[in-house]
Amino acid sequence: MKAIAVFPAERRVRLIDHPAPAIASPTGVRLRMLEVGVCGTDREIVTFQYGTPPAGSTYLVIGHESLGEVVEVGAAVTRVKVGDLAVPMVRRPCQHPECAACRAGRQDFCETGDFTERGISGAHGFMTEFVIDDERYMNRVPVGLRDVAVLTEPLTIAEKAIAQVWQVQQRLPWVPPPRPGVAPAHGLRAVVLGAGPVGLLGAMVLVDAGFATTVYSRASGPHDKTGLVAALGATYMAAEDHTLADLAAAVGNIDLVYEATGASRVAFELAEVLGTNGIFVFTGVPGRKGPVELDTDLIMRNLVLKNQVVFGTVNAGRDAYERAIADLGAFSARWPAAVRRLITGRFPIADAPGVLVGAPAGIKSVITIA
Ligand code: BGC
Ligand code: ZN
Repeated sequence: MKAIAVFPAERRVRLIDHPAPAIASPTGVRLRMLEVGVCGTDREIVTFQYGTPPAGSTYLVIGHESLGEVVEVGAAVTRVKVGDLAVPMVRRPCQHPECAACRAGRQDFCETGDFTERGISGAHGFMTEFVIDDERYMNRVPVGLRDVAVLTEPLTIAEKAIAQVWQVQQRLPWVPPPRPGVAPAHGLRAVVLGAGPVGLLGAMVLVDAGFATTVYSRASGPHDKTGLVAALGATYMAAEDHTLADLAAAVGNIDLVYEATGASRVAFELAEVLGTNGIFVFTGVPGRKGPVELDTDLIMRNLVLKNQVVFGTVNAGRDAYERAIADLGAFSARWPAAVRRLITGRFPIADAPGVLVGAPAGIKSVITIA
């Protein structure tokens, strides 16, 4: 079957013929892949800065943001049935008995680092015609979300982040405990750093949770992203027009920063204007470009004197996938045009190497497989 493979030793990315997998366990599920999204991580993998083939393989089948259709199930499968749409999770647990996270099914918090990630690290991914995986990694998607469900995986990043934000807010004694449907929020002024897919999906989650949200990104408007941000009811501020001091003055007390660029210098400069009791969430994975100069005394004074919290977040557990799928439905109803406009290009699998290696264009490029 067709697959897009990265050969690190040859420094090549190409369409290959890859053996079709067969179900080997009673809880196995066979997916016919429909769509696979392309993200910054994939671009790092195809430039050989990141990513590892499975042990014993000279290549890695790429692709981790996916949507498939269930075409066959093992005898014991109960979570999905033939004909369902499903999004498989990315990370698989490490095998160490002492890893409490993986043993609890929370490999997104793996303590040993010996997890694998499909399409990224140590396991083939989803940019291929058929995939087999255990039902425990499958998340069923309503058929009405067929055209946007490939956005589930990047949305899980924001879902995992905001769940942790609400947990941090619980340190404030007057913030009520979470109740279904009610944001257990304290301060509700958020800045999203970056207007790529992770940033825009993060902005949707934050606006939906009641945050007055400002998206701070490089390019001066108007352009497709400024229109999309406005459609959400959020504010767009361009770094080309406004300094971080302007941003802080416009927002007021910055209660939350959701970093979604992987640009570490601007992120740490933004940390200097984080507000009182503020939370700063990092999601980007920068390439190593060398040390930069920072006002660390100011950042440390603020962290202490303003009770700030900084955390990083990677990957996501089942709860985040379930919330992402539910939210894609809610966001599609609330902002039908904006959600669809996140996907700015669909390309056949034969064009995937060019899309992966070429200059990023638009917001989210998707490879259509079936
Ligand atoms: C993926 C995550 C993964 C991370 C690190 C991201 O692009 O969305 O699932 O954990 O890369 O490899
Ligand atoms: Zn990704």
